[in-house]
Amino acid sequence: MENHSPRDVLVTGGAGYIGSHAALELLRTGHRVRIIDTLERGSIDTIRRLQAIGEVDFIQGDCGDELLLQEVLRGIDTIMHFAAFTRVDESMACPELYQQQNVEVTKSLAESAAAHGIGQFIFSSTCAVYGTPDEDHLPVSEAAPLNPENTYGDTKARAESILRRISQNHDSLNLGILRYFNVVGVDAKGVLQEPVVAARLTSACLQTALGNQSEFTLHGTDYDTSDGTAVRDFVHVSDIARAHLALMDSLQPAIVSVYNVGCGHGTSVLQIVRAIEQICGHSIPVIEGPRRPGDIPAIWADSSRIQSELGWSPHYTSIMDMLATSWQNAMK
Ligand SMILES: NC(=O)c1ccc[n+]([C@@H]2O[C@H](COP(=O)([O-])OP(=O)(O)OC[C@H]3O[C@@H](n4cnc5c(N)ncnc54)[C@H](O)[C@@H]3O)[C@@H](O)[C@H]2O)c1
Repeated sequence: MENHSPRDVLVTGGAGYIGSHAALELLRTGHRVRIIDTLERGSIDTIRRLQAIGEVDFIQGDCGDELLLQEVLRGIDTIMHFAAFTRVDESMACPELYQQQNVEVTKSLAESAAAHGIGQFIFSSTCAVYGTPDEDHLPVSEAAPLNPENTYGDTKARAESILRRISQNHDSLNLGILRYFNVVGVDAKGVLQEPVVAARLTSACLQTALGNQSEFTLHGTDYDTSDGTAVRDFVHVSDIARAHLALMDSLQPAIVSVYNVGCGHGTSVLQIVRAIEQICGHSIPVIEGPRRPGDIPAIWADSSRIQSELGWSPHYTSIMDMLATSWQNAMK
């Protein structure tokens, strides 16, 4: 257990993939956790697994519901806001849904937080806010222009700017923004079960390796990258969780802290397939498909700011080690 005073943390979307890992890290370091989740895209099993580790209050509901928040925010000093819709292709097909889930809900939550005198608010943002960085902006740093190319990234950029405005108008609300790159893996101790999400690259690839899916589709093989598939910066979910803890302990009044969270190098989609083949010991049936709307060719992070200012660095630096946690979890 680390040496900091316990906090009362509201984790929105804590029944989902990343929020549940943050909740687990909070419990392991002695904090008190309350989770609000609609369970639309999270699971009650995840909540039960967390409750087996420590005391977790769970409220099933919408974190944009201001009436409900009057109860939910009682006694809370920090909010970690993970709840969102996160699928690029879905966001392109249903922009209004994403505007509601990712922008309006965030605005209501932050306004309620400010009204209740909550001290700290950490927002889950994404590298999708950068769009396709120019070559002279790779690796992409926090100073790069925001130029989202899909609705998902656009709603996250809008939410960031609304949060900045609300925190500027309320001195007591200290704001931190973490822009994660592509999150993979699962808690290595096996407390949590990795969700199966067909739209997530590593999830779909693992399901194919397990034989639960007949083939894996490479969405786009004609990008201007070394093997024609898209390139991303993969970072382990437990490292993302630790970044929240590091930021929670360092938020300051009147400063909006913005950090990229990635490993700092690019891995192609085809390299992911090859890595999973190596881990599972057999080949994976792959088919080539068209690019998906809103997907960009290549991005990876300059994460030097979070490393130098918060002392965060990824425990997992090899993609094989990251994916091995998923494989072991799936084999249980
Ligand atoms: N997964 C990634 O690679 C990645 C990368 C960058 C940023 N992010 C951000 O991280 C956050 C978490 O992503 P995830 O992958 O864990 O997604 P997820 O879908 O697994 O979890 C989101 C959770 O939020 C809940 N939820 C959605 N809307 C809600 C609402 N209005 N009220 C209460 N609960 C609600 C869902 O039921 C779900 O349990 C998101 O904000 C996402 O934009 C994710």
